[in-house]
Amino acid sequence: MKNLLLLICCSIATSLLYSQPSPHAGKRIAIIPEPVSLKQGSGSFLLPARLTIWASDEKASRSAIRLLQHKLSTAAGIRVEVAGGIAAANRPAAIKLALNASPDETIGQEGYRLSVTGSGISIAANQPAGLYYGVQSLLQLLPEQIESAQLIKDLQWEAPLVEIVDYPRFGWRGVLLDVARHFFTKEEVRDFIDDMTRYKYNLLHFHLSDDQGWRIEIKALPKLTETGAWNVKKQGYFGTFSKPLPNEPRNYGGFYTQEDIKELVAYAKERFVNIMPEIDVPGHSLAAIASYPELSCTPGANQYKVNSGENFMKWGPKLTALVDNTLCPANEKVYVFLDKVFSEIAALFPFDYIHVGGDECAKNFWEQSAEVRSLMQKEKLKNMEEVQAYFERRLQKIIAAKGKKFMGWDEILEGGLAPGAAVMSWRGVKGGIQAAKLGHEVVMTPSTHTYVDLMQGDPIIEPRVYASVLLKTSYQFDPVPAGVDARLIKGGQANLWTEQIYNTRHLQYMLWPRGLSIAESLWSPREKKSWDGFIDKVERHFKRFDIAEIKYSRAMYDPIFVSGKKTDNPFKIALETQIDGLDIYYSFDNSFPDHFYPRYAGPLIPPKDAVMLKVITYRGKTPVGRMIAMPIDELKKRLR
Ligand code: ACM
Repeated sequence: MKNLLLLICCSIATSLLYSQPSPHAGKRIAIIPEPVSLKQGSGSFLLPARLTIWASDEKASRSAIRLLQHKLSTAAGIRVEVAGGIAAANRPAAIKLALNASPDETIGQEGYRLSVTGSGISIAANQPAGLYYGVQSLLQLLPEQIESAQLIKDLQWEAPLVEIVDYPRFGWRGVLLDVARHFFTKEEVRDFIDDMTRYKYNLLHFHLSDDQGWRIEIKALPKLTETGAWNVKKQGYFGTFSKPLPNEPRNYGGFYTQEDIKELVAYAKERFVNIMPEIDVPGHSLAAIASYPELSCTPGANQYKVNSGENFMKWGPKLTALVDNTLCPANEKVYVFLDKVFSEIAALFPFDYIHVGGDECAKNFWEQSAEVRSLMQKEKLKNMEEVQAYFERRLQKIIAAKGKKFMGWDEILEGGLAPGAAVMSWRGVKGGIQAAKLGHEVVMTPSTHTYVDLMQGDPIIEPRVYASVLLKTSYQFDPVPAGVDARLIKGGQANLWTEQIYNTRHLQYMLWPRGLSIAESLWSPREKKSWDGFIDKVERHFKRFDIAEIKYSRAMYDPIFVSGKKTDNPFKIALETQIDGLDIYYSFDNSFPDHFYPRYAGPLIPPKDAVMLKVITYRGKTPVGRMIAMPIDELKKRLR
């Protein structure tokens, strides 16, 4: 009797255990980028403490398997066994990865179908990349602790029941990493690639040369890295640094050996990321000229040094260089140099495209050059834009001779562009529209939306850069503007220039969460995007970033100061938020406001003698934004 009672008690307890509502029941799924189709069932599948991953083709699925195995064993302590091929097909397996025997037309090369049922998880794809993306989505279905680098005990590792069909809107989903302004080590670049792949980016645009550094070993031109990879370490506001003194050590920087590059290319390939090299010419070439001064048209170039962040350019409608940072288009040695560089580059990077820069080429030194004038006569070139176009045509032939496709920034359109050149549109989308109308392939990277080196909040609180791109603005990015042949738009990129970025923590801070919004613009169907839904997901990914110890910006919670007009009388201060449902509390008395202070309900007229407006956002009783102290005089300066 006692035993029977015990049995009944036990079975009640057990049934209670199993019928308990799962922590996932009714919980909204937060996959970024949003899948094409997602149908959530009720309930969840609990991963056992020991499980088998079965793969139809173990070798071809190894990237997906490795990622799963790593995450499940590290964070969840799950013991994973792998079984492969037809022979093992009947073995019970909690996770099945199947490469389709005949193509599933809906999902293409990178798509997948992911199914979580009461009896297990299956991912099917046409290609290994699809399995890998299916695994990335599956990881986002699991509790956020899956991001932990330490074992998390006593957690139910379960995935909500779901049917997902997913594939990308664009094949080109890039992030530009500028390793020229500040150098990032091979290990740091590997981590960067890992972070990109969480959100299904598939291209690393590697900006390898600029005025501040040449970052890749070219065996035929050793001075490029002996001299060109090094400058003087400075900190502060890049572009305003003092000119280095002759005795200051030039030991800041670095470069990748060809072995490093091979390793990075292989590492990226395993994660379905291509690396596109960029060598930025004919402008942005001071590091090359400091190494080989004969590449310049300008007498005295042999005194030039790699730039260390001191100002050497007058920005404005007409760019004026104070030091000639351009290669000489009239010098045959330049084309011999470029041929050597791109021979080695082409052999190292299997990706089809080589990016040759072409942006922001100041022409004032060319205007002074007798060699350039005689080139213009000989080639019947009417202006400096046509001189650059001549240079680009010569370079395009070099690139084509290496079996590669030629890509450049939208300035390459200016003096006329040869057929077959691809254009990366950065000065808004107009260059991209023009290029597509001329039949060129286009990648959209408008600085207004995708420049993640720009500030993501108010300059009063963000590390200073010359402009801002709010998260909300980046989410509005659509690579296909109205009236353009969508077939010519290959996709887009988040561009992470590093003039003001000195370390990887700040690199992460600048990329996330804007990297999430751009990923969604590049992968998800336009009609699936929703700002409110996106923000809800972003907040959940913040928890993942916290656990993964990836830095991100919370600027999206901060108030926005809306500039009024100079003619406004009285002077008023208007505030907005990017996100709905936040309250702004403020003070004019210099103390730190909280939710017991006045709540913003409309434009504020500052008290006569007030010098400072302090603001902070709350959700309910919880502060979510940062305390911002804004001088009233600063707001007056901003009046339009
Ligand atoms: C660029 O941002 N200069 C391409």
